[in-house]
Amino acid sequence: MKKVFIQTYGCQMNEYDSQQMLQVLSAKGFEKTTRPEEAQLLLINSCAVREKSEVKALSFLGRIAKLKKTDPSKVIGFGGCVGQTEGPKLLKRHSFLDFAFGTNNYRELPQMIEDFEHRWADTSADDERDTLLPSFRPDSKSQAFITITNGCDKFCSYCIVPFTRGRELSRMPEEIVAEAEILVQRGVSEIMLLGQNVNSYWGKNQSGRYTKLHELLHIFQKESEGGKLSGLKRLRYTTSHPRDFDEDLARDFRDLEILCEYLHLPFQAGSDAVLKRMRRFYRIDSYLRKLEKLREYSPDIALSTDIIVGFPGETREDFQKTLDVLRQVEFDNAYYFKYSARPYTRSEQMEDDVSPEEKTERIQALKELQRSISRKKYREDIGRKVEIMLEGPSRTKSHLWTGRTRGNRLVHLPKEDTFANGDILWAEILDATHCWLDGRRLDLPRAIVA
Ligand code: 5AD
Ligand code: SF4
Repeated sequence: MKKVFIQTYGCQMNEYDSQQMLQVLSAKGFEKTTRPEEAQLLLINSCAVREKSEVKALSFLGRIAKLKKTDPSKVIGFGGCVGQTEGPKLLKRHSFLDFAFGTNNYRELPQMIEDFEHRWADTSADDERDTLLPSFRPDSKSQAFITITNGCDKFCSYCIVPFTRGRELSRMPEEIVAEAEILVQRGVSEIMLLGQNVNSYWGKNQSGRYTKLHELLHIFQKESEGGKLSGLKRLRYTTSHPRDFDEDLARDFRDLEILCEYLHLPFQAGSDAVLKRMRRFYRIDSYLRKLEKLREYSPDIALSTDIIVGFPGETREDFQKTLDVLRQVEFDNAYYFKYSARPYTRSEQMEDDVSPEEKTERIQALKELQRSISRKKYREDIGRKVEIMLEGPSRTKSHLWTGRTRGNRLVHLPKEDTFANGDILWAEILDATHCWLDGRRLDLPRAIVA
């Protein structure tokens, strides 16, 4: 059987795309390998969102080029967000690169590799499969992703996504539910709905009616109650945009049992002046008001966020406001990034005037503050009884298993023979760090602990 190696960078949407690539290629007789040296086909699914991620993908390309020196029959394809905009340039620059592709045409991979198939003459032919399985799942994980929107129309001034993934498109609700149904039949217990901005989901259904995200979530709830999605236990979505996150969506966290109490809502910067230059189209007080409302509906909801430090013109006073937001909201987790200018974006024209040292200092300050907040919040769970979904054995400690709370917190607990991925059980939390909880299984039926 021919083997394909895929190196994925970036967000969960890229991970989803890589799984789709595997699915398309498995129908052509390929199987996945994690060892580049044994693969006939090597693909890079790149991320362009920050300069650092682009550099990583390009240096990996350099590494696999060396493999081709010893085995010229290897075929190398460069895809994803960098491939989308820079593909032709890369092909000109690197003679070892066989083809490049973008974010929207990976379904055509079988056609793209046709020109190179003669290189593997002796490994092909025998194993063509004719079934193309939707939502192919190469592992036994109990969680799966489904992309519901692709692309973005927001054009935040620093962001390359609208150029790499194009205009925002929403999939049909029926198609999404059908994909979820197949996943659930294969044992998936938790689904994460994905998009650059899922809050603006606006999918046309078969009868031509438009469906909002809020309505799609209700469809999932209904179908999970003895319908097409019976067996689905948890639902999440990401990423949200503060401007489009509305009260209907906030209320859903109270009303929909299947929807986990966790929201990733990037605020990017605490200063209104910076937000304006970022073209985020909200002020920080309206962001905070939305979170207040959300907490009225779902008091214990876990929140996480993204922050960019050192956006052009961000002063120390501006940055203090970002720290203030962290103190005020007390997120479970925050992901912070040093600003880097990206091609095609508006902010590329602005002077990148915060020094690298200053950016590093600001990241450090965020890290320290957030770490103490996460630690405090995680430790509040000590002594509590929490519902967790099992995710499999711990990668580092053989006597432990891992699970996740509805608020997405990682829990370690002693392994038991009956444990299976996707099982829901109750645990008592015994200890906590800033990024995981230690617990023990409780023998309680679900109904007793509310
Ligand atoms: N520089 C740094 N961080 C960026 N992000 C997006 N574009 C840039 C950039 N040019 C961050 C944002 C976004 C996350 C996915 O990446 O915080 O939410
Ligand atoms: Fe980029 Fe802004 Fe769209 Fe998010 S909302 S993908 S940051 S343009």
